[in-house]
Amino acid sequence: MPVVTIEQVASHAGKEITLRGWLYNQRQSGKLLFPQFRDGTGVIQGVVSRKESPQVFETLAGLTQESSVEVTGVVRADERAPGGHELQVTGVTVIQKIPEETPYPIQLKEHGVDFLLENRHLWIRTPRQAAILRVRDQAIFAAREFMHQQGYVLTDSPIFTPSSCEGTTNLFEVDYIDERKAYLTQSGQLYVEATAAALGKVYCFGPAFRAERSKTRRHLTEFWMLEPEAAFARIDDMMLLAEGLITHMIQSTLERCPRELATLKRDTAKLAAVRPPFPRISYDEAIELLHRHGNPTSWGDDFGGDEETILSSEYDRPVIVHRYPTAIKAFYMQPDPERPELALGFDILAPEGYGEIVGGGERISNYELLMERLRQNELPEEPFRWYLDLRRFGSVPHAGFGLGVERTIAWITGAEHIREVIPFPRTIYRLYP
Ligand code: 4AD
Ligand code: MG
Repeated sequence: MPVVTIEQVASHAGKEITLRGWLYNQRQSGKLLFPQFRDGTGVIQGVVSRKESPQVFETLAGLTQESSVEVTGVVRADERAPGGHELQVTGVTVIQKIPEETPYPIQLKEHGVDFLLENRHLWIRTPRQAAILRVRDQAIFAAREFMHQQGYVLTDSPIFTPSSCEGTTNLFEVDYIDERKAYLTQSGQLYVEATAAALGKVYCFGPAFRAERSKTRRHLTEFWMLEPEAAFARIDDMMLLAEGLITHMIQSTLERCPRELATLKRDTAKLAAVRPPFPRISYDEAIELLHRHGNPTSWGDDFGGDEETILSSEYDRPVIVHRYPTAIKAFYMQPDPERPELALGFDILAPEGYGEIVGGGERISNYELLMERLRQNELPEEPFRWYLDLRRFGSVPHAGFGLGVERTIAWITGAEHIREVIPFPRTIYRLYP
């Protein structure tokens, strides 16, 4: 008897097969039983007749939701069945029966989100959550595939670091060995600047940590970032790369995850429209646009969620905002030689209110200027000695960006909150499970 997954049953129509999984749901109609099984690749409905298989009927009729089973049956094509196929069950082996007295906590009804998050280790079994995690896998695969195609080499950055990258207000400090302090990385950027000088075109892909006090639907304390960096690259090169990367992530997810996107009821027409070129507007133009919408942001202010939503609602694809005031950007940003009060940086704002998914730009390559910016930002020189070395030994113009994986996937899946698109979210209040 071949052991197959639910995803594969279509190619076994008319044949007897074995499935391994869990009892998802069950309904009885007179002498017929309709169990639904799930195995992580999908859900299939079974049929059992009391008359034809009395033993199987008895075993399944008393079985509790999420008990684990091995089921044998004949696959029948049936247009009315949810996945287009049904299983005529001929045998069942119960692996573990959940006792009636301690039922599976997540019933097939609406639950509050706090309850679901408390039971995240079980919540991920529901078809919607499983679909999101499959899309996440696909989107990440596509991202790495694209970087590889573009000739970028994966060089991972460390997680324990001696200094901050994105300001000191949201740094996680940890006790390192022998009474030394370390910080969890906020971004792998500084290290890919070093590997870019070693290998040319590189990227890192890993978790980043920020002690965010924000309770928005866009913030996690632990999130994943993909950060390309290239020697000799300029801001425009990085805009092009980011645009290509996002497009590839979207288009290949559309192509490879149609079932998951259908489970999520995602409006895929909106995603299909995401093609280059993305509109590019300067920070100055963005301020004007905000004023036209009656938003009071003044020149020099950073944008929050509200401003990002207004700006992105103007376009049917992501919008690139470039040349923000140097004062509101990180210490490493290269000033625009034509207007030094502006930084040669850019953000990409996703449509449909998902906010900033990319931040990046050109880095300061001049030693003296970088020293000055470290001082202005009250950052200590010692932990940045190696970073300053990059400006002493064959410094070149270089640029890169960071793409926030969860924000991008929240947009692709249409998730309400980014905590749904990472297996085990970490937020200001949540460290369990
Ligand atoms: O704009 P950010 O802070 O840029 C950097 O960290 C640069 N050093 C990256 C680089 O140039 N290599 O963060 C980049 C992206 C944001 O656009 C956002 O998508 C995501 O990371 N991000 C978060 N995602 C979830 N939760 C948070 N708290 C996030 N903070 C940033
Ligand atoms: Mg940013």
